[in-house]
Amino acid sequence: MMETFKYPGCFLLMATGMCIAFPYLFKFKSLNRVNNIPLPLISLNHNRSNATIQTTVTGRHFVCYRCEGRLGNQLFQYASIYGIAMMNNLSIMTHKSCVTTKYFRIRNSTLAHDGSACSSFKVLSEKMPRVFNESYFTLPKTINIFLVGYLQSWKYFQNVKDSLLEQLRFIEPIEKRARDEIDALKSNYINVIGASPTIIGIHVRMGDIFEDPRYHQIGMEFAPPGYIRKAMGYYMANYSNLLFIVCSDSIINVKVTIDSFKLNVTIQYIEGKREPIDDLAILSHCQHVIQTVGTFGWWAAYLSGGTSVYYKFPGRQGSVAEKRYNSYDYFYPRWTGLDSK
Ligand SMILES: *[C@@H]1O[C@H](CO)[C@@H](O)[C@H](O)[C@H]1NC(C)=O
Ligand SMILES: *[C@@H]1O[C@H](CO)[C@@H](O)[C@H](O)[C@H]1NC(C)=O
Ligand SMILES: *[C@@H]1O[C@H](CO)[C@@H](O)[C@H](O)[C@H]1NC(C)=O
Ligand SMILES: *[C@@H]1O[C@H](CO)[C@@H](O)[C@H](O)[C@H]1NC(C)=O
Ligand SMILES: *[C@@H]1O[C@H](CO)[C@@H](O)[C@H](O)[C@H]1NC(C)=O
Ligand SMILES: *[C@@H]1O[C@H](CO)[C@@H](O)[C@H](O)[C@H]1NC(C)=O
Ligand SMILES: *[C@@H]1O[C@H](CO)[C@@H](O)[C@H](O)[C@H]1NC(C)=O
Repeated sequence: MMETFKYPGCFLLMATGMCIAFPYLFKFKSLNRVNNIPLPLISLNHNRSNATIQTTVTGRHFVCYRCEGRLGNQLFQYASIYGIAMMNNLSIMTHKSCVTTKYFRIRNSTLAHDGSACSSFKVLSEKMPRVFNESYFTLPKTINIFLVGYLQSWKYFQNVKDSLLEQLRFIEPIEKRARDEIDALKSNYINVIGASPTIIGIHVRMGDIFEDPRYHQIGMEFAPPGYIRKAMGYYMANYSNLLFIVCSDSIINVKVTIDSFKLNVTIQYIEGKREPIDDLAILSHCQHVIQTVGTFGWWAAYLSGGTSVYYKFPGRQGSVAEKRYNSYDYFYPRWTGLDSK
């Protein structure tokens, strides 16, 4: 999920339980309202691309961020920086390495791309990657900030959710591929079963967690088969005419595992050589999403807009993984955490 282990805790989930987070949500909403005004166009004077840099149009200062890790991490960084920028009336400066502007209809023209200037900004470094730090909503008004971190809490962007979801639509070729795939699977289901399906996406994150011992060392676990079985059972208990669509970075192994459950439901495995973005797109077109662990599944669930089930115990007890996050800040309130028993 990420190339460096500078913030080993950042992608770790853990165990403190399911979401009884409505009081949090309520408090949050009443605290922070912000206008969803689009950021204006920026013109940069590159000869002043230092701490003194300002937009000639708005006179706003900047918040700069760096894209760390892969897709799920970068989505969190963009979403949170966007929310923080809107809250503080700041313009966003982004590094060229960010993939989000490549795949999504982000208002690219409102981003300043001169990331080289960031190094002269005042650096704020996040301490806990999955703990919401409310002080980022009241940044100093008169300086440029370089906010370094993973910023993995939905609370940073809840206040701009509609505007964010508008921007996190896939660009046309990706969108079309996903639509075509979903439509084909759906009409196939209708032909065979004679009814329209409720489509549940399943994302099983395994590959790197399974293979790279560093994940295990810091206490990050993948979701056991018992959890996946239970999560599928959750939807089977609540819906009829289910079509499960399974994506994984280790689909061959996952297919063996899920087939071994011998469930009387329709399951479609998404196989073959694919880009991760296409998996994210197809999952986000499902009505509901079963996550295992990691930010990729988190975003699949968030973008789907449906309900979601996640694995409650991905951080071993007492590990670095377990300590560095707050499940109320990380997991979206409407989602349900399940164990594997
Ligand atoms: C930056 O300064 C150089 C030399 O003074 C000038 O040639 C160039 O046009 C300036 N660039 C911008 C973007 O102002
Ligand atoms: C910007 O930074 C460069 C190199 O760090 C320095 O030479 C230059 O004087 C700075 N310009 C301003 C306006 O601070
Ligand atoms: C945002 O900053 C600009 C430039 O300083 C200022 O003109 C504008 O009034 C600010 N908007 C808000 C809502 O504070
Ligand atoms: C966003 O802007 C950057 C810099 O101008 C450019 O390199 C990139 O291709 C743009 N992305 C899209 C999707 O237009
Ligand atoms: C929140 O951010 C502020 C500003 O960077 C920092 O001083 C503070 O220690 C942070 N709080 C936590 C709990 O990380
Ligand atoms: C779904 O079914 C489970 C039982 O497996 C139940 O506990 C849960 O409340 C149901 N959820 C909904 C949204 O109906
Ligand atoms: C499987 O499910 C279908 C429809 O839900 C049902 O008609 C069929 O009897 C079930 N088969 C078995 C072996 O339980």
